[in-house]
Amino acid sequence: ASLKAYNTFGIDHACMSLHEISDKAELISTCLELYRQDLPVLILGGGSNIVLVDDYQGHVVRILTKGIKIEEDETYFYLRVEAGENWHDLVSLCVDNDIGGIENLALIPGTVGAAPIQNIGAYGIEFGDICDWVEYLDLSSGELKCLSGFECHFTYRESIFKGKLKGQVMITAVGIKLAKEWQPILAYGPLSSLAKGGIEPRHVFDYVCQLRREKLPDPLVLGNAGSFFKNPVVPVATFERLRDHYPDIVAFQMGSQEMKLAAAWLIDKAGLKGMSCADASVHEQQALVLVNNGAATGRDVCQLADLIIDRIVQLFGIQLEPEPRIIGATGEINKG
Ligand code: FAD
Ligand code: EPU
Repeated sequence: ASLKAYNTFGIDHACMSLHEISDKAELISTCLELYRQDLPVLILGGGSNIVLVDDYQGHVVRILTKGIKIEEDETYFYLRVEAGENWHDLVSLCVDNDIGGIENLALIPGTVGAAPIQNIGAYGIEFGDICDWVEYLDLSSGELKCLSGFECHFTYRESIFKGKLKGQVMITAVGIKLAKEWQPILAYGPLSSLAKGGIEPRHVFDYVCQLRREKLPDPLVLGNAGSFFKNPVVPVATFERLRDHYPDIVAFQMGSQEMKLAAAWLIDKAGLKGMSCADASVHEQQALVLVNNGAATGRDVCQLADLIIDRIVQLFGIQLEPEPRIIGATGEINKG
C-alpha cells in the first residue's frame, strides 16, 4: 500500500500492509498481534512528523480512534481524548466551548496521540504544561498503562516516549487539565502585541492561526513536516561568543544557564534560504522548514538536511539535530 497520502511531506513510499483502525479494542489486538510477528511495525498518526526514505518492509497501523470526554470541578476542566482525534480540532472545540489553555497550540497538524511524543509546543506553551496523564499500550507486555504528566519527563521537544520507552508503546489516550481561571500566555514574540484587557481564548487562537498561515506552508499545497531542525540549546557562554560576532543573533532564554538559538536565524544568516537538492528546498518564508516542491524523495530531503547541518557547523560551530523522525526500510534511522 502507498503511504503518500499519509505523510505531510507527500513522499511516495509503500509498506507491506496498512491497517487503519478506529475501534480501540481492535487497535489494541491488531497491534499486539502484528508486534508479535517478525516484521517491524510503524505506528502512524497524521504523518506530519516523519520523513520516509525507503519502502517500509513491515506493517503500518494508522490510529483513527475517536472520543472526547470533558469533566469539571470547581477549578479545572479535565479532558480525556482518544489518540486518533485531530489535535487542531480539539483546540477548536475547546475555544468554541470557551475552555482556555491550549489556544496557543492551534493549527499544529497531527493527532492527539502523537502530541506527548515530542511534547508539541508553539507560541509559549508546550503539551507538557497542560498534560494530566498519558495512557499507552505496553507493546511487550500487552498491558494498558498510565503515566502522570510529571512521569513523562517532558522537556523541549522530548519526552520519555522518545527516550526510555521509544518504540515500545502505542499511546492510546491523553488526559488534559485546564484551569477554569484562564491566564493568557502572550510572552512569545508577536503575541505580546495583543491587548490584554478583555482578551479571550478565541482572540489568541485567531491570531496564532493568522501568524502560522503567514509563515508555514500548508502541507496540502507544499509538502513539509514543519520545523526540520530543533532549535539548539547551548550554554549562555556559547551564545555570548556567537553574539560577539553576530550582534543580531536571535535566541530565547532557557532557565539561567542555557539559551535556545533560533535555528531559522542560523540557516537564514548562512544564506541557505531557497537552497535545493533536486525537488527539496529550504522554504523562502521560514528557513527552518524544508519543503517538497513536488517530486522530492526522502533521500533528497535528507541530503539537503545534511548540507545544512555541515554548513551550520562550519559557520557557527553549532550542531543541528533533525526534529522529524526519519523512517527507513525497517524503522527509524538516527541522524544528527
Ligand atoms: P506522526 O507523524 O504520525 O508520528 C510521529 C512519530 O510518533 C512517529 O515516530 C510515530 O511512529 C509516532 N507515533 C504517532 N502516534 C503515535 C501513538 N499514538 N503512539 C505511539 N507512537 C506514535 N510540532 C510542534 O511541536 N510545534 C509546531 O508548531 C508544529 N508545527 C508544524 C507545522 C506543520 C506545517 C507540520 C507539517 C508539522 C508541525 N509540527 C509541529 C510537527 C507535528 O505536527 C507534530 O510532531 C505532531 O505531534 C505529529 O503528529 P502526527 O499524528 O502527525 O504524528
Ligand atoms: N527567523 C529568521 N529567518 C526565518 C525565520 C525566522 O531569521 O526565515 C528568526 C526570526 O527572528 C524569528 C525567529 O527566527 O523571530 C524564530 O522564528 P519563529 O518564531 O518562526 O519560530 P521557530 O523557532 O522557527 C519554533 C518551533 C515551531 C513553532 C514556533 C512558534 C521548533 C523547532 N520550532 O519555530 O514549531 O511553531 O517556534 O512557537 O522549536 C515544529 O516544531 O514543527 C514547529 C513548526
